[in-house]
Amino acid sequence: MLGIGVTATDTEIGKTVVSGALAAAMQYRGYKTGVYKPAASGCVNNSAGKLISTDAEFLLHCAGLQMEEHDKVVPYVLKDALAPAEASRLAGVKIELRVMLAGARQMLSNHQISIVEGVGGISAPLTEDYLVKDFFRDLQLPLVIVVKAVLGNVNHAVLTAEYARVHGLQVLGLIVNGWDEKTAGSLETSNLYYYEKLTGLPILGKLPVLPQELLQEFESRALAEITEANIDIDKILSLAGGVVK
Ligand SMILES: Nc1ncnc2c1ncn2[C@@H]1O[C@H](COP(=O)(O)OP(=O)(O)OP(=O)(O)O)[C@@H](O)[C@H]1O
Ligand SMILES: [Mg+2]
Repeated sequence: MLGIGVTATDTEIGKTVVSGALAAAMQYRGYKTGVYKPAASGCVNNSAGKLISTDAEFLLHCAGLQMEEHDKVVPYVLKDALAPAEASRLAGVKIELRVMLAGARQMLSNHQISIVEGVGGISAPLTEDYLVKDFFRDLQLPLVIVVKAVLGNVNHAVLTAEYARVHGLQVLGLIVNGWDEKTAGSLETSNLYYYEKLTGLPILGKLPVLPQELLQEFESRALAEITEANIDIDKILSLAGGVVK
């Protein structure tokens, strides 16, 4: 029944990879693990002509679920790589809040822990007047914020954390994605310092740059091992209130 929301400082920062990493770790800890995304843009047709979310596909594999569950993981699949509010308008699809929320609640109630990936950044519009933060608030999910140690990202992390607080969302901490210990210089290490100092949030882990084949072949066991070695899963679970057995 426990849920953790995953947002980020921007699109393409690594929400899907980090969500999959968390889901893989939970799965290999033996928890019945769910994954969810309220809407996906930039979806592609599979060989049968069905629109598929590659984010949902990755998340499914990481959680040990079957591809048949695709539509339960993501209720809205949209072709244009635009915010769902606009991609759905162009597709002539009406995004219903109750559909996104009911799907999420079903996933949550059927699993011991569910990882819920947001869309874009925290204020991305799911519909014209319903933003990602509204979705997380309605589900009362504690959040982790995925950040990336590049120039300008401290500012985005502070804005995201503050925006979450202003809107009454609980943030557990930050996860740094794409960390490379060998090449980290003063930019990267000072980012780490200022993330914690300026947001007041803990860094819960640093996920390294992962081999492409691991991501493409959905190697969930290897991903779970890397996650356990680099992200404090115990701390995330305890901050989020623990998993009910
Ligand atoms: N730790 C990593 N190691 C290697 N590649 C990564 C890592 N994290 C992300 N990537 C790659 O960077 C790209 C963006 O990552 P990802 O899809 O997770 O971002 P996102 O925040 O989920 O984006 P969106 O807003 O579109 O959902 C992808 O091609 C992904 O494979
Ligand atoms: Mg994604």
